[in-house]
Amino acid sequence: MFDRDGDVVTVKSWIKEGIKWQVGDVLEPETIEALRPQDIVIASNFLCHMPPLMAESCLRNIARLVRPYGYLFVSGIDLDVRTKVADVLGWHPVQELLEEIHEGDLCMKTFWPWHYAGLEPLNKKRRDWKRRYAAAFQLLPCDKKTSDWVNLDISPKVTATTESTPETRTKSYLRAQ
Ligand SMILES: C[S@@+](CC[C@H](N)C(=O)[O-])C[C@H]1O[C@@H](n2cnc3c(N)ncnc32)[C@H](O)[C@@H]1O
Repeated sequence: MFDRDGDVVTVKSWIKEGIKWQVGDVLEPETIEALRPQDIVIASNFLCHMPPLMAESCLRNIARLVRPYGYLFVSGIDLDVRTKVADVLGWHPVQELLEEIHEGDLCMKTFWPWHYAGLEPLNKKRRDWKRRYAAAFQLLPCDKKTSDWVNLDISPKVTATTESTPETRTKSYLRAQ
């Protein structure tokens, strides 16, 4: 993917071709407004560095970038935050390769539960596992609900967390066992 020159790596020209690069803060509504709605949006490995309420607000902001029926990929985020926003906004969790994607980042798994960015092991005993562990979502227009599409047998509303520590993460995980 890259050309290397000493310590500097540059994205290969054939990959850069046809891509418009823009830099912005996705916490700012102006950044979202400056970009047109897209078919696919990827939010990877940065929401976990924000406190939960900020990550939630940011994720809602990012979701505005996705065209109706488009796809949003979100990884590297507190799972309570992702599950809550997906639930409240009625996102359809894509089931294809769900386990492979969740289990794919070995580095994040080794952090759990002691590091805030650690990734909880996939737990099929949770009623909401098909939503909680999905990293890909299809975003539906406001008048459509996930339940119109498919019965995922997912739990009622999850509660918001304002604090995420090794203790709260472990307790939440054990409660679901
Ligand atoms: C850990 S790196 C992840 C890079 C890449 N997305 C990945 O998954 O490998 C976090 C990146 O998120 C960017 N970032 C953090 N907060 C941001 C924000 N509010 N708006 C836009 N980018 C942000 C940082 O500049 C940094 O490049």
